Amino acid sequence: MRLQEITLVNFRKHPDLTFAPSDGINLLYGPNGSGKTNVLEAVHYCALAKGLNKSLDRECLNFAADYFLLRSKFVDEHGIEISVKVSYAKTSDKKIQVNSEELKKYSGLIGRIPCITFSPMELAVVNGAPQERRRFMDNALSQTNKRYLDDLLRYRRVLQQRNTLLAYSGDNDVKSDSLEAWTEKLSLLAGSIVSARLSFIEHLLGCFHPLYEKLGLGEVPGFSYRASFGKLVPGMAEEEITRIVMQRFREIGSQELYRKQTLLGPHRDDIVFTLNDVEVKRYASQGQLRTFLIALKLALQQFVQEVKGEKPLFLLDDLFSELDSERVGKVLELLEGSGQSIITATEKQDIEGVHCMAVEELT
Ligand SMILES: Nc1ncnc2c1ncn2[C@@H]1O[C@H](COP(=O)(O)OP(=O)(O)OP(=O)(O)O)[C@@H](O)[C@H]1O
Ligand SMILES: [Mg+2]
Repeated sequence: MRLQEITLVNFRKHPDLTFAPSDGINLLYGPNGSGKTNVLEAVHYCALAKGLNKSLDRECLNFAADYFLLRSKFVDEHGIEISVKVSYAKTSDKKIQVNSEELKKYSGLIGRIPCITFSPMELAVVNGAPQERRRFMDNALSQTNKRYLDDLLRYRRVLQQRNTLLAYSGDNDVKSDSLEAWTEKLSLLAGSIVSARLSFIEHLLGCFHPLYEKLGLGEVPGFSYRASFGKLVPGMAEEEITRIVMQRFREIGSQELYRKQTLLGPHRDDIVFTLNDVEVKRYASQGQLRTFLIALKLALQQFVQEVKGEKPLFLLDDLFSELDSERVGKVLELLEGSGQSIITATEKQDIEGVHCMAVEELT
């Protein structure tokens, strides 16, 4: 997938800017605060219907404006063009058009334009709270597996219903039939989600190994899925996972009624990343964390390509300040020939094969 052109109108600090990157590796440079990350965020909007780092639509609206508009044109590996238009006004919800047709649901865009990001904020995937790693898995799988995205959205609705039921049931007033029905629905969806996550992390680790070997310091990496409802083994069947989840729900029924919430399921699971069998989150140095994250994103790029047969667009924010020059060199080598990437940096870099553009010259 390749971005041909994007125009930003009243988006963040840019009243009107057009960016037309080349194939291969692009470097967008400019001083701090010149709006480089803003441009990456706009591209992210057109690919995945949302900004970076959980930002809200209204935060992306230029302070002096009452609407923003993004117009973008992508072309896939078969030469098929996809145009995406995102518009937002203070007075109405965001609208997304793909090839001039308005989407009924934003989720309809997910997966059409595969896109991977690397940014300093995402270090939280490696060393932050479990929800960061769940979001990492959910984002990756939603782009590559339509059933996963549908089941995840359904799971969230069912979870909310089940929590509402638990919240309003007094200790002696359990609508047990109703609760059981929601428990069953939730367990079926949990089986589907968790089995997809297990295959994902196994496949991803296969991609990650050689990449980390190239970038890291000789440690042996490992990923394992930490389920909130028991021990799972790689490759476990969906039905078996559903059965375990149901069984655990039965065992903790009274605790859930007491705590008035759903205490287990994929919304409480985590991935454990290790280097030489030691948890990365707890023991890795700053450099190891960053190297781990970039290898993880490069592995994701390969995973997406293998699953979708389409090289994803890669957005890398502040790559040069995050890694030392030796590792940056290796990352650039790995990026070469693996689709289009857009890197931001404060300084222009004279590197062969890298197309440099100053953000301040785009307006
Ligand atoms: N909604 C908005 N309206 C107007 N300006 C905004 C809006 N949101 C952010 N900005 C401004 O955009 C600038 C930040 O842009 P951006 O983060 O893209 O900079 P950058 O070039 O990536 O900088 P750095 O090198 O420090 O990462 C800030 O000056 C901020 O005040
Ligand atoms: Mg920035």
